[in-house]
Amino acid sequence: MPGFYIGLMSGTSLDGVDAVLVDFAEAPLRLVGHCHQAFSPELRRELLALNQSGGDELRRAALAANELARTYCSAVHALLAAHPGINAVNAIGCHGQTVRHRPFDGYTVQLVNGALLAELTGTTVVCDFRSRDVAAGGQGAPLAPAYHAAVFAHPRIHRAIVNLGGIANLTDLPPGGMVTGFDCGPGNLLLDAWAQQHLKRPFDENGKWAQSGRAIPALLERLLGDEYFRRAPPKSAGRDNFNPGWLARHLGGGEAAADVQATLLALTAHTIAQAIANFCAGAREVYLCGGGARNRALVELLAQRLAPRMVAATDELGVAAEHVEALAFAWLACCALDAKPGNLPAVTGARGPRILGAIYGA
Ligand SMILES: Nc1ncnc2c1ncn2[C@@H]1O[C@H](COP(=O)(O)OP(=O)(O)O)[C@@H](O)[C@H]1O
Ligand SMILES: [Mg+2]
Repeated sequence: MPGFYIGLMSGTSLDGVDAVLVDFAEAPLRLVGHCHQAFSPELRRELLALNQSGGDELRRAALAANELARTYCSAVHALLAAHPGINAVNAIGCHGQTVRHRPFDGYTVQLVNGALLAELTGTTVVCDFRSRDVAAGGQGAPLAPAYHAAVFAHPRIHRAIVNLGGIANLTDLPPGGMVTGFDCGPGNLLLDAWAQQHLKRPFDENGKWAQSGRAIPALLERLLGDEYFRRAPPKSAGRDNFNPGWLARHLGGGEAAADVQATLLALTAHTIAQAIANFCAGAREVYLCGGGARNRALVELLAQRLAPRMVAATDELGVAAEHVEALAFAWLACCALDAKPGNLPAVTGARGPRILGAIYGA
């Protein structure tokens, strides 16, 4: 359905929500506005805690889903306040906050009270995009590749898109060929957790701290030994797979903290480069999106590993790196209202194309 949509993306980095207001009437799209709303420290702490089993978690999850709806609503209001001329939005595509991702057990949980968000905004809300794909035997992730194909594919140039969120995911866009993609492994989330623990900062700006250390080859090898990196796609990951406990199990104990950060940076770059070499070796151009595209040290390392391929942010293609995933969920909401499938079975492994999302009417 042509018209305005809002996309809300809050990923595994747990940094907050990216919100975009977009007009799909002008092909392929016109970005009207963007805002980022950080999570309150209390909400962030609770969401992090809810990634693991704990006491009274059903009640706590329900309350966190309400608080998320209120936080998303304030992002929606901020966007609309900045664009007073826009008084009708077809739908809000809301990813929600992943606290469990267990496709092999048949479920994935993205917290948000969609009914409350519809009530607070007076706008149709589409959420819970991943569950239908999982129900159809898929991974439920990544879901951005269909959107990446719609906006970034080139008729003659073989491109790859790498989203550097908490988890990193790859989309292969061979000209005229089949679009594929999967989660490569950790993007920012281990780097953020280690920076929080040692620098008391939410992230290592531009990877400067990592660059002050030296990657530890033996540690990198142990981390790379994880079964996830050898598994063939379709595959997807979350904090269930990669988390501070996972890192701690691989540490010897005597490592300098900056060297561990350098090793984590190398792990992200290495696993992405390996994924591209193994599954889209023909790609000549690699475009980066997500917050990690702003981490200069990570971008430099990736450019070295991926040479002679061209490596740049999606900004070069006219879409700012931090807008891409939120745009993808606005686009998926548009697909849902049009009753069009949003998943790519070749990516997720689902039995077929499915209309994604639960719809809460305005
Ligand atoms: N200048 C920067 N230097 C290093 N890392 C950055 C920078 N800007 C953003 N990031 C990283 O990007 C993350 C946010 O990325 P985002 O795409 O929102 O991930 P997610 O989708 O998982 O929430 C931050 O947590 C941080 O790790
Ligand atoms: Mg984020």
